Amino acid sequence: MTGQTAPAQPGAQISVEVPAKINPHLGVGDARADGFHALSTVYQAISLHDTVTAERRSEDGGEPGIEITISGEGAGTLPTDEANLAHKAAKLIALYAGIEPDVKLHLNKRIPVAGGLAGGSADAAGTLIACARLWEVEIGDAELHRLAAGLGSDVPFCLKGGTAIGRGRGEELTPVKAKGTWHWVVATTDTQISTPDCYKEVDRLREDGIGRYSSDVDPIVKAFERGATADDMARLLINDMEAAAVSLRPQLASLMHGGLEEGALAAHVSGSGPTVLFLATDVKHAVALARRIRMRGGAKSVHLAHGPVDGPAA
Ligand code: C5P
Repeated sequence: MTGQTAPAQPGAQISVEVPAKINPHLGVGDARADGFHALSTVYQAISLHDTVTAERRSEDGGEPGIEITISGEGAGTLPTDEANLAHKAAKLIALYAGIEPDVKLHLNKRIPVAGGLAGGSADAAGTLIACARLWEVEIGDAELHRLAAGLGSDVPFCLKGGTAIGRGRGEELTPVKAKGTWHWVVATTDTQISTPDCYKEVDRLREDGIGRYSSDVDPIVKAFERGATADDMARLLINDMEAAAVSLRPQLASLMHGGLEEGALAAHVSGSGPTVLFLATDVKHAVALARRIRMRGGAKSVHLAHGPVDGPAA
């Protein structure tokens, strides 16, 4: 793996931290022939992360294969078998390398599950990197990107982190040099929204003439490049999926209103939701805002985060 393969000693344990993503701009076009929607998005990695740890399963006398354990968010409810994207990632890179998979993966999850923050994609990206290091797989960035894209639209960005424009179905990335740090309050809810369901709702609303394709990412990209204030950024946040997420989970509207009443500069649904992001002026404002949103109730959990942060392969 270009520039980052550390040889794995016997008994080695490889740990990779992978941040969550948000989409300060999420423009959703029409469904393509392959069922995916054309996207014009700006991704940003934020300071909530999962940690993927990998060691050889055969090391302590076990059979080779893929074993997954999970702690933190989603432990006890998320699958640990082939249905977990991290399992698919380990299998895929073993296939690429032409070897039998032999790994015990531990996912320590801090990224809220199914919340529009790409937690599952982050675990898949971390697994690709951790297994490549553990098994000493020679793989270039382009190939790693190709494997990541095969796992999911957000996985390539999760490998990279930072800030990037995403086109195609999200996997065609152009890095953006953001100058500055922006502070968020991340409020999760006790419901989940499946990504395909939210895209279907976007299509349904469009048939009724509701919603449009915000394809122009230039204004927000320029704002990140010049280090715009949070006030300026608040006016530039766009999510074409927001109406669909609120239509599926109407309680999001009151959570968003509540945060604005408590002084957030903007309320922004994260990806396909149902997590809501509140933009704060600075870290002090974010701490106070988080406390007020917590006290108000309505959110399942409230976290502080800032972005952009580097990704695991930065
Ligand atoms: O790529 P990923 O596996 O994350 O996508 C999950 C689902 O979300 C897809 O099967 C598709 O229904 C929907 N999707 C979409 N357009 C995109 C990305 C995802 O319609 N650009």
